[in-house]
Amino acid sequence: MSMLPVPDTAIIVVAAGSGTRLDAGAPKAFVGIDTHSILRHALDGVFAADPAQVIVVAPAGYEGDAETELRASAGDRADLGRVVTGGRTRQESVAAGLDALWGDVTRVLVHDAARALTPPEVIDAVAGAIGDESGVIPTLPVVDTLKRVDGDAVIAPVDRSELAAAQTPQGFPRALLEAAYGEATASGIEYTDDAALFAAAGHLVRHIAGSPRGFKITTPADLERARHLLADVDASPVAPPAAWQGPRVGIGTDVHAFGGEGSLWLAGLEWPGEPALSGHSDGDVVAHAIVDALLGAAGLGDIGEHFGTAHPEFAGAHAEVFLARTRELLAEAGFVIGNVSAQFQGNRPRFSGRRADAEQALSAALGGAPVSVTATTTDGLGFTGRGEGIAVTAIAMVHPR
Ligand code: CTP
Ligand code: MG
Repeated sequence: MSMLPVPDTAIIVVAAGSGTRLDAGAPKAFVGIDTHSILRHALDGVFAADPAQVIVVAPAGYEGDAETELRASAGDRADLGRVVTGGRTRQESVAAGLDALWGDVTRVLVHDAARALTPPEVIDAVAGAIGDESGVIPTLPVVDTLKRVDGDAVIAPVDRSELAAAQTPQGFPRALLEAAYGEATASGIEYTDDAALFAAAGHLVRHIAGSPRGFKITTPADLERARHLLADVDASPVAPPAAWQGPRVGIGTDVHAFGGEGSLWLAGLEWPGEPALSGHSDGDVVAHAIVDALLGAAGLGDIGEHFGTAHPEFAGAHAEVFLARTRELLAEAGFVIGNVSAQFQGNRPRFSGRRADAEQALSAALGGAPVSVTATTTDGLGFTGRGEGIAVTAIAMVHPR
């Protein structure tokens, strides 16, 4: 059994809010961004960061759901995670998380599940910047021009360079954070965030660069933003190229019954003395299956469309005419024929003796592209086994010129 070293860092992921402003019909942490919930995405970031004890603070009644998300995200780090029940305010929820810290933990990060797309690099950077007696938070510069207002009056400009927008995770030395929480609970004061609570106890808080992806999902518009960010990332590796430029394959099958007039035409050859196949044209099933395979590979429709009864000029035509015209159609569409392989199922004719001739005739009609033809019987089964007709399957490979 592999034992992970007991980490000296813990991450408290507060997820116990109700999400009033998002108003999505479920506690915010369990609202889906894509196929995964806000909490699941937040935990994916947390478990991609350096190993730490992970405490998920869940809404009362949702502990089991939080456990499920935790297990799905933690992988082989499941032993590092646990779920506790949150409180009425965020501050109470953090306090509940602090109560679950392991003895070895000396540094604590407090993270909003609602900042679901926070990159693991930010989490590691915060953990690494916690001082012996100072806390640290990630921030973003403020870009808007800011004004101090009173009612409808603009009172004064505000110097943007003195301001920063705070994100999470916020990191602190454990003992000082616990003491600061003790004081806050005793005083009954609710602070805006952990950094404010920590600073109120007389400690220094520093800041490092946060990430635009660390924004808090608060409103439906924020959820849309998260969805777009994920869609962009997910789409790029799997999106097909605008037009596939590699080789393409196609398949064609054809079946004809015996009972035609005259002699048998098969695989581009005449077979005197053999029963003929019925059908439009000469009934050459091998050629017809090959035509469908080629047209299919090039995405050019099928044999009925190009050679059917609407094209009387092909009535009675032999394989070389069909195949030559097919090759022309492909060339017009920018395709070169790679190779063709066809197999016919039937009791007769005995094919092996004329295989080379047949392959050569078909290949010549296709401008020299290799064509192979194999033959099989079906052990007396089915219409081919009963000698009622012949079935052919062909595949073709073509490529852009
Ligand atoms: N939080 C918590 N316990 C609470 C309130 C909030 O754990 N009693 C958590 C939320 O789950 C969230 C983070 O604190 O991850 C930031 O809070 P906020 O964005 O305000 O979330 P909600 O309180 O759920 O949303 P709202 O204020 O719109 O109801
Ligand atoms: Mg709230």
